[in-house]
Amino acid sequence: MTGFILYYLTAFLASSAVIPSNVGIQSVAGQYLLGLGIGDITGPVVETNMMGYASLAQTDTGLHMRQRSRVFIVAEQDTPSNRILFINADIAMGDTGVRRSIVSNVTAQFPGIYTNENIAFVGTHQHSGVGGYLENLLPQLTSLGYVAATADAIVQGTVLAVQRAHDSLAPGKLSLGNVTVLNANINRSPSAYLANPAEERARYEFDQDKDLTLLRFDDNSGNARGFLSFFAVHGTSLYENNTLISGDNKGMAAYLYEAMVEPDVMPGNTTFIAGFTQSNVGDTSPNTLGAFCESPGEPYDGMPCDFDHSTCGGTVEQCHGRGPGFQISDFASNEIIAQLQMEGAQTVMDSTNRTSVTGAVRSVHVYLDMANHTFTLPNGTSVQTCPAAMGFAFAGGTTDGPGAFDFIQGDNSSQPQNPFWELVKNFVTPPPSAAQIACQDPKPILLNTGFATLPYNWSPSTVDIQMLRVGQLVMLIMPGELTTMSGRRIREAVRAKLISSGVLDNSAYVVIAGPANTYAHYVATLEEYGVQRYEGASTIFGQYTLDAYIDKYSSLVPFIADTVTGTPASDAAPPEQTSKAISLQSPVVFDAAPFGSHFGAVQTDVSSTPYEAGQTVFATFVGANPRNNLRLEGTFLSIDRLVSGQWQMFKSDSHPSTTYSWVQTSTILGNSQVNITWTIESGTPSGTYRIRYFGDSKPLIGSISSFTGQSSNFTVL
Ligand SMILES: *[C@@H]1O[C@H](CO)[C@@H](O)[C@H](O)[C@H]1NC(C)=O
Ligand SMILES: *[C@@H]1O[C@H](CO)[C@@H](O)[C@H](O)[C@H]1NC(C)=O
Ligand SMILES: *[C@@H]1O[C@H](CO)[C@@H](O)[C@H](O)[C@H]1NC(C)=O
Ligand SMILES: *[C@@H]1O[C@H](CO)[C@@H](O)[C@H](O)[C@H]1NC(C)=O
Ligand SMILES: *[C@@H]1O[C@H](CO)[C@@H](O)[C@H](O)[C@H]1NC(C)=O
Ligand SMILES: *[C@@H]1O[C@H](CO)[C@@H](O)[C@H](O)[C@H]1NC(C)=O
Ligand SMILES: *[C@@H]1O[C@H](CO)[C@@H](O)[C@H](O)[C@H]1NC(C)=O
Ligand SMILES: *[C@@H]1O[C@H](CO)[C@@H](O)[C@H](O)[C@H]1NC(C)=O
Ligand SMILES: *[C@@H]1O[C@H](CO)[C@@H](O)[C@H](O)[C@H]1NC(C)=O
Ligand SMILES: *[C@@H]1O[C@H](CO)[C@@H](O)[C@H](O)[C@H]1NC(C)=O
Repeated sequence: MTGFILYYLTAFLASSAVIPSNVGIQSVAGQYLLGLGIGDITGPVVETNMMGYASLAQTDTGLHMRQRSRVFIVAEQDTPSNRILFINADIAMGDTGVRRSIVSNVTAQFPGIYTNENIAFVGTHQHSGVGGYLENLLPQLTSLGYVAATADAIVQGTVLAVQRAHDSLAPGKLSLGNVTVLNANINRSPSAYLANPAEERARYEFDQDKDLTLLRFDDNSGNARGFLSFFAVHGTSLYENNTLISGDNKGMAAYLYEAMVEPDVMPGNTTFIAGFTQSNVGDTSPNTLGAFCESPGEPYDGMPCDFDHSTCGGTVEQCHGRGPGFQISDFASNEIIAQLQMEGAQTVMDSTNRTSVTGAVRSVHVYLDMANHTFTLPNGTSVQTCPAAMGFAFAGGTTDGPGAFDFIQGDNSSQPQNPFWELVKNFVTPPPSAAQIACQDPKPILLNTGFATLPYNWSPSTVDIQMLRVGQLVMLIMPGELTTMSGRRIREAVRAKLISSGVLDNSAYVVIAGPANTYAHYVATLEEYGVQRYEGASTIFGQYTLDAYIDKYSSLVPFIADTVTGTPASDAAPPEQTSKAISLQSPVVFDAAPFGSHFGAVQTDVSSTPYEAGQTVFATFVGANPRNNLRLEGTFLSIDRLVSGQWQMFKSDSHPSTTYSWVQTSTILGNSQVNITWTIESGTPSGTYRIRYFGDSKPLIGSISSFTGQSSNFTVL
């Protein structure tokens, strides 16, 4: 979780630089059953805190693009019980409670086929989605507790995506490639990265991973059905002040790719599924211009922030990262970072030299209690992890979002700002013991969350350790955000173990997917931990967190071999907490149209003057609260085009060219207004168009009913 706000301007536009670097041979024989599916997981788009920046002020007011889960199933054709189900959800991070619900639903529908072991629930780590779905208390602070509607939408849409993927199972083949994508990420904590040994750093050209790895799904005739790609870049292209629900750069990349393949199909309805999965994202930033001081009137205004501390004049608040579209808008930056990933994926999809994927499909999953986990380092020293704790630098935030969580302001009893914090602060984290201080050293402890279990657990203690194998490709499904060097170390260690133990030959290819399953914050290297920037301060289980994961994932390698005997030992599953969750979000009371008007009535109509590409058409309507009906798989708006005397839906609420926003104009009278905009793309056919608004109103007594509003016709030249 991070954040950022961009302010003042310099001119720059990232050039698209994609260097193909893959080798190998075209895939041949089909030996897998493949299934792909997509589902709408968009929770309430208004009056709900957004997830990622952990900013109390970031309450959603509408929709830019819907959030989706994309599901990828691979089974062995000969032994279909050997299968994996990979969920790439357009949310900030996986979560224990949501995963529990998905697993329980899917395993009940498909007993013995999908299991707790073979279902991976991975978040894209975007920061502009609907919040409130996480089970542990700490990430609920800014969302005023748990929001069941958000979690339910994620579960429902993901289950639908699973059903669609399952229904689409068909023989096919897989192939693998990679490409170097430049200008799409930078390291936002280079001073921590520099603490890693010089000889280790010398092995890498960059202080970030620039490779995008792609697994292509083909049917048996060689027609592409979709792909799963892995690339590390934070989903923080959209600013912390954006309040329209969106998918950030990975959601946008998926849209761009799917729309390119099936341009005439509405978003979310394509059969081609583009998976842009997050990887070792910890210290990455899409704000590729770097971090600068936004300090008007100060001599350092416009200068780069302090290198070691990301401060301007001694404080973090004015230090902000800048994206490539800085001069234009955060939405422009978002599209550039999305486009770079999309083009990288296209390069691998189109290349003739991907490696054919062959071999067994396997999965392994265990729970690991990371509090006080004792294990042996490769050098023979026995060490242990610690119960969770957040360091002081955690509250300092990052250059993507200075000062995450408003603990200090929220704790100001003379002017309480966060009612949820006011409620739970009575359960404030207990003071750390001498043992905990020593264990977490050199981290100064701000929040001793591992010992905070009231009213329910603040941080996870037990995490999901999971690996999926498809032939020579091994996916480490990680319960947190690994920094660049952490990712390199664990990939290398697991790959070495795969080869040394004879599970795979030299073709072994290891990738990281996360934050997945359980959100256990960050994973920095031992050396980066010593520096205690945000990522180190947020490495919750102490300095040996990474080494514990390397040890555990490596130890599970035998369980993804061709021949597996026995099952690995597992700690107990984490306790269910959702039933204890506190929610302060109030329900919709009622909607009413102003006297003499009706729901859907046009308040501001489109212009009768013809429009041209690049212009924004908008209309406002008498509205009702969109929380009454999330319209999953549907739309709150349509831009219709008149074709041969018939109206056809041309754009939905999920096209990035449209926005839907809602504002309550009177709480007492229940009045509200909806504003729909469409920025006309170049290449839009000239002709007659109209805007429609689909709403649902809740009377004081009685049930919710739907209505439609409609603008006048307008002309696009
Ligand atoms: C967000 O902040 C940026 C930078 O200050 C500003 O340009 C932009 O207009 C803001 N966006 C919104 C939606 O307020
Ligand atoms: C990219 O693919 C090539 C060929 O398989 C491989 O040698 C290389 O290690 C891959 N790059 C990464 C970062 O995995
Ligand atoms: C699974 O979820 C779907 C959609 O939310 C629901 O209709 C169905 O009843 C659930 N099934 C089980 C077995 O929980
Ligand atoms: C998606 O396709 C289904 C089935 O064809 C259709 O009912 C639905 O309206 C489509 N959704 C959108 C947003 O066009
Ligand atoms: C792989 O394919 C890409 C794109 O088609 C090409 O640019 C690259 O040189 C190829 N690499 C090898 C090693 O053949
Ligand atoms: C971890 O050890 C501490 C003592 O250092 C103890 O208080 C705590 O209960 C232990 N936690 C767990 C989950 O075992
Ligand atoms: C093993 O490595 C750890 C961590 O780097 C170090 O603290 C310890 O001293 C080493 N032990 C030996 C025996 O070298
Ligand atoms: C509480 O915060 C407000 C500003 O947010 C400040 O004016 C006031 O002095 C603070 N009170 C205390 C007791 O710190
Ligand atoms: C609706 O949105 C457009 C485009 O952003 C804006 O110009 C207009 O002021 C908005 N109207 C209302 C009533 O919010
Ligand atoms: C909009 O166009 C349709 C189709 O041509 C026509 O039936 C309708 O009367 C038009 N509406 C207005 C207000 O002109």
